[in-house]
Amino acid sequence: MMKTLLFNPSTIVTIDTSGKNFKKGKELSDIGCLYEHSIVIEDDLIKDILPTASVEKNKFDEIIDATGKTVLPGLVECHTHTAFAGSRADEFRQKLSGIGYEDIAKKGGGINTTVQAVRSSSFEELINLIKPRVEHFISQGITTLEIKSGYGLNFENERKLLQVINFLKEIYPIDIIPTFLGAHTYPPEYKNDHQEYVGEIINNMIPHFANQKLAEFCDGFCEATAFSINEIDEIFTSAEKHGLKLKLHTDQFNSIGGLDVALKHKAVSVDHLEVIRDEDIPKFSSSDTVAVLLPGVSFFLNHTYAPARNLIEQNAIVALATDYNPGSSHISSLSLIMSLAALKMKMTIEETISAITINAAKALCREKSIGSIEIGKKADFAVFNTSDYSDIVYSIGNNLNCLTIKDGNVIYKLKNAVE
Ligand code: NIG
Ligand code: FE
Repeated sequence: MMKTLLFNPSTIVTIDTSGKNFKKGKELSDIGCLYEHSIVIEDDLIKDILPTASVEKNKFDEIIDATGKTVLPGLVECHTHTAFAGSRADEFRQKLSGIGYEDIAKKGGGINTTVQAVRSSSFEELINLIKPRVEHFISQGITTLEIKSGYGLNFENERKLLQVINFLKEIYPIDIIPTFLGAHTYPPEYKNDHQEYVGEIINNMIPHFANQKLAEFCDGFCEATAFSINEIDEIFTSAEKHGLKLKLHTDQFNSIGGLDVALKHKAVSVDHLEVIRDEDIPKFSSSDTVAVLLPGVSFFLNHTYAPARNLIEQNAIVALATDYNPGSSHISSLSLIMSLAALKMKMTIEETISAITINAAKALCREKSIGSIEIGKKADFAVFNTSDYSDIVYSIGNNLNCLTIKDGNVIYKLKNAVE
């Protein structure tokens, strides 16, 4: 057995939940800071949290010195489209000149631009493109990372993307969670035959990918220009039957009832909610479905922000993520997302921290094992080069993480970090 000591940090931000494993309402503000404590790790688990004055350093195989630093649970990035190829810089230019995201999509661009690039990339090319992106997430202290497919949009290419994500999961020490997003948009060959494509998802892709264990979640995009509530209902029914857990992109541009379909199927999360109707917000108070907010999209598209305050006040389990993708949020910095959530959605610094740890873990059904520093949970930590956790949100666009620890092992260390 390997005994490791995470020694003498200035602050441990535990996100303690007293075993409840998520935070709602006022609980999001309570992040359980401990001072003058050290963390005892046995193999891959948190064994104890002790006053630093009482620890006997000679009892450990390894000491990780965190003097002057702030320790958080390993960060959880619960919504990304990291598995893409090509660039949409041209479309970004169009957007800067005033053309809308949905208009670009209607003309055959948008998601389908990326689909073309993915279809013409080999497995190896995709791996080489995506590896540095995963490493960038790890350098930020992210120890759990969700990645969606959704840029293949036929059997062969959705399978290729899921295989790429699963390969990355094998080669990196962090937990990478694959989500099948065949219902992202209609590919050009099914432009005029939506039912045929839905049939392909239900009868071919879902059964095969679930059977091969290529995906843990099934996601979809419920939107006026994408999939209708009936189509999402059919897709979710099939996904459930094959043992996939559910997520839904909904209420991004139009509120067309996706939220109700997701809640009916007890989806693990509903993501976006920029234009959620006021009367729908109370539906979260009695629900376990996590509201994943993506302020990077609102920033990138100059669009409305989700009503985070209202959602928190009405007891939604609110999480935050980058939505990292080439078209609507070309942003891979989770700390920038926290800053945007604070500045643009009026979340407190503490709420943003709960939203990228325990609540993001809940959005991936990992809340019992990660997302907070509680005895028995995984020894996953992000160690920040500051004694004041406010700096993570205040230092906008900077990565203050200097050490990433997964399963008790240091997997990233900033070179030349001030020790
Ligand atoms: O989460 N809303 C749909 N899907 C992505 C955007 C994907 C893209 O534009 O490539 C999103 O915003
Ligand atoms: Fe997304």
